[in-house]
Order: sequence, then structure tokens, then C-alpha cells
Amino acid sequence: MLGKKILLCVTGGIAVYKAAALTSKLVQAGAEVKVAMTKSACQFVTPLTFQALSRNDVYTDIFEEKQPDKIAHIDLADWADLVLVAPATANMIGKMANGIADDMVTTTILATTAPVWVAPAMNVHMYDHPAVRRNIEILYEYGCRFIEPGEGHLACGYVGKGRLEEPEKITALIADYFDSGTKPLSGKTVLVTAGPTIEKIDPVRYLTNRSSGKMGFAIAEEAAKMGAHVLLVTSVDRLPAPAGVERLKVQSAADMYETVMGLYKQADIVIKSAAVADYAPVHTSDRKLKKQPGPLVLELARTKDILKELGEQPDKPYLVGFAAETDHLEQYALEKLEKKRADMIVANNVSHEGAGFAGDTNIVTIFKRDGAKIELPLLSKHETARRILQEICTTLEMGWAK
Ligand code: CTP
Repeated sequence: MLGKKILLCVTGGIAVYKAAALTSKLVQAGAEVKVAMTKSACQFVTPLTFQALSRNDVYTDIFEEKQPDKIAHIDLADWADLVLVAPATANMIGKMANGIADDMVTTTILATTAPVWVAPAMNVHMYDHPAVRRNIEILYEYGCRFIEPGEGHLACGYVGKGRLEEPEKITALIADYFDSGTKPLSGKTVLVTAGPTIEKIDPVRYLTNRSSGKMGFAIAEEAAKMGAHVLLVTSVDRLPAPAGVERLKVQSAADMYETVMGLYKQADIVIKSAAVADYAPVHTSDRKLKKQPGPLVLELARTKDILKELGEQPDKPYLVGFAAETDHLEQYALEKLEKKRADMIVANNVSHEGAGFAGDTNIVTIFKRDGAKIELPLLSKHETARRILQEICTTLEMGWAK
């Protein structure tokens, strides 16, 4: 992270002392660090500590303009390559989620276009409070990235989740982020399927499911950012095609089967995040079906299992399947890994809050062919996508910078 400009926003909790160590670690790693502090943060550690560690002025007061030719909060907001809020109190998260700008820190955060990372630290019950959870969800939607607090002894006497992540770990995550520009997937083709399939009954009716396609679109976008040539096979047209991604429009499971089987030989990696219908109507009518007295019996037939068929190919690419379950997650995921001869299954419990179909977050567990099981926390779908791709790169040793 040599020369990267990091604005560290320090807010008022006991973990401020760790923010001092974090400043030091970031500077040692080669970053240029400027610090902005809330009034409450200054109650715990003085600005002088951060000034000495960052070797830069510390910003605490929106009205204290140090240079007459500049407006400090705009200048800082524009200067930063990354804004890191650490520790982030419940109050600060609440203010950020609601667009409140009433001091130097909040005003600068609202004015920046740089990525904003948030490392919460608070009492375990505060962290679990629905208001805080909701505010975190909102910030995910705004594109903030979270560094989950760790579990352990909290200053308030409780043991639980709420401890600011260790400065070394935060520094390593930021270094990873700046390193990801190395494009570990360049020269590779990644085929992604996303969203539901649409099984036509007649010109006005169809069978589908609640998949939004957001997870698959996030994977496509992140894979493209990592340098891959991405083919996105999807029925979804509501979401914009991510930059650099080639979208191939399909509707039914049969369409998707044809398209994927026609393309898979070009791909190094196939990621099947689509929620493919297991059954489709045997007969589709070209005319609208008119209602009749009595019940309607719709005959459905099994669709072809695309993932399973890919798994049977002698020249199969690296295969990633998804499993959306409501129970027995691990058992079903492992069965799918085996039955479909996939290399990885990404499983999520869709009945858990934050892991549903339409939201912007997910909670997944990755099961790999080598027996590895990686449980990811609640993350934005984009961050989940990055982690999945990172796991694939690690497995394929494509030089992902860890
Ligand atoms: N899949 C596929 N072709 C199908 C059905 C599913 O490629 N016709 C893929 C999905 O894209 C996903 C994985 O298989 O990657 C999901 O497995 P699936 O057996 O469909 O899951 P469920 O239908 O949820 O499983 P089950 O009904 O067996 O519980």
C-alpha cells in the first residue's frame, strides 16, 4: 500500500487506543495516513498521539480551517484513496446510515467518493440491536465494506462479538484490497449463470422463483474486475450488465442448458449461481389458456441438470455450484458436491436474515472438493463474490495475492 492515502476516522469508544496502533501499522506498511476524530474520540486519546503517529495534522473541528485556500472536509474527502472508520461506534454507524453530517468526521464521510470501510466496536448487545443491524444493512446497500468485530472479552465486562478487529488484521485486509489490482484472473474466461429461469405456460403466464440474480451479477462484476473475460448467462434484464461483462440472454432452463453447453469449453471456470427450475411445463400454449370449471392440472417434467451434466464432461472446467437451502445445509451441500461432481458448492440458508434472495447481503459457507469448509460472515454480495473468487484462485493457484 505504498503511497496509498488513507483517511482514518476515529470515533469515540474504548477501542480508540487500538486505532493508535492501527495508525502506526498503516504508516509502517507504507500508507500515508491522515486522522479525523470525533469529539468523543478525543476523550479517550488525544489528537497529539495520532499526530505523532501519522506525522500529519489531525482533524477534529469542522470550523477549524487550517488553510484559508481550502475547505478542509472537502479537501480530505477528495484526498483519500480509502476512508476507514475505526473504531466505528453504534452512534457513528447510525449517523452514517442516515446521512447526518454534524461534525468533521461525518461531513467528510458524506463528501467522499472513495471506498468507505467500517470497523465496528461496541458492546455485544448494542451490536445485535435491531437498530444497529438495520443501519449496517443500509450501509452495505450504500457500498460500505465492513470489517467484522472479533469475539472475546469486551471492555464492558461482557464476552462476545464487538471487539475491534486487530490492527494487524485490518492492515492486512487493506493491503489485500490495494493488491487486488494484480488481476489474478486475467487471461481466464469465467462463465457465470445468474437469476431465475422462466418456464412459460402460455403467452401471459410462467413459472419462476424468487432469485434476483444479484449474487451472480456481483460475481460477474468482481470476476471482470479481477481481469477475467466474463460470460454472464441470465434471464435477468432489470439489472445493468456490469462493465466488461458479456451478457447472454436466456429464459428457460432448456435455453440455459443449450447456451451453457455451447459455451463451457471456452471457460476455465463455470459458476452456476442461477436458480434453475427443476421442473418445467410439458406443454406450453401459444394461446392464453382460458379458465375451465374445476381444478387445472399442469403436467411438469424434470429439466436437465446443467451442473450435473457439466460435471460429467471429460474436459470439465472448474465447477462451482450453489445450494440455497432452508435446513440441513451442510448435508445437502455435500450431497450436491458429490452428485454433481462440482469442485465447490456455495451454500446459504435462505431462511436466515441477511441471506435471502432479494437483499444486498449474503451469509454463505463454501464447501470444497478437498474437504475444506469456509464459513463467511454476513457480507455484501460483492464482498461475498470477491471471497468466493479468491477461494477459487487460491485453489487454482492463479497467484491471487492473499
Ligand atoms: N442446477 C443446474 N441445472 C438444473 C438445476 C440446478 O445447473 N436443472 C444448478 C444450480 O445452478 C445450482 C445447483 O445446481 O448451482 C443447485 O442444485 P439443485 O439440485 O437445483 O438445488 P435444489 O433444486 O435447490 O435442490 P433439491 O431440489 O435437490 O433440494
